[in-house]
Amino acid sequence: MATKLNTFVMILTAMGLFGITPFAPLASAAEPFGDAFLKNHCYDCHGDGVKKGGLSIEKLGRDLSDAETMRLWVLIHDRVTAGQMPPKKQTRPKPAESRAFLKSLSSTLTQAHTKQREVVLRRLNRIEGAIAVTAYALYIIRLL
Ligand code: HEC
Repeated sequence: MATKLNTFVMILTAMGLFGITPFAPLASAAEPFGDAFLKNHCYDCHGDGVKKGGLSIEKLGRDLSDAETMRLWVLIHDRVTAGQMPPKKQTRPKPAESRAFLKSLSSTLTQAHTKQREVVLRRLNRIEGAIAVTAYALYIIRLL
């Protein structure tokens, strides 16, 4: 769990380094996963019962607190960013279309990541709280 989380942090940090900013203001809230783009450019091979490369994007869940789901959406994001998907011989999406898709998706992924980080921090705070209480208890015991 911790290593998977570290991987996401690294991926998202890398995304940040490549200028895919966390709080992309133009992200379309209506289509956080860019469904129209996916339908137009991906479902021929990853939807409607087809799952090239073992991936059905149509069937892919949207609960990004699930590590595997998150991993696949990050992979989708990265394959499109790299221009590897759709495959080169297919009709290319218009650059503006790809940019808009990536903006929405990266914003969705980043928001999910931020939420998870907050959960982790809350957990850490609880652990730190417990340690502080224990330390205090030990201190009291020593005083007695
Ligand atoms: C013409 C068919 C075709 C289209 C269209 C297509 N793909 Fe693919 N995709 C493949 C094939 C074949 C593979 C497996 C080989 C590979 O990984 O390159 C694959 C693999 C992938 C993988 C890796 C899956 C994994 O678990 O390793 C991702 C992610 C992906 N595609 C995303 C997309 C996205 C997003 C689009 C649309 C923008 C898209 N693909 C459009 C054929 C296609």
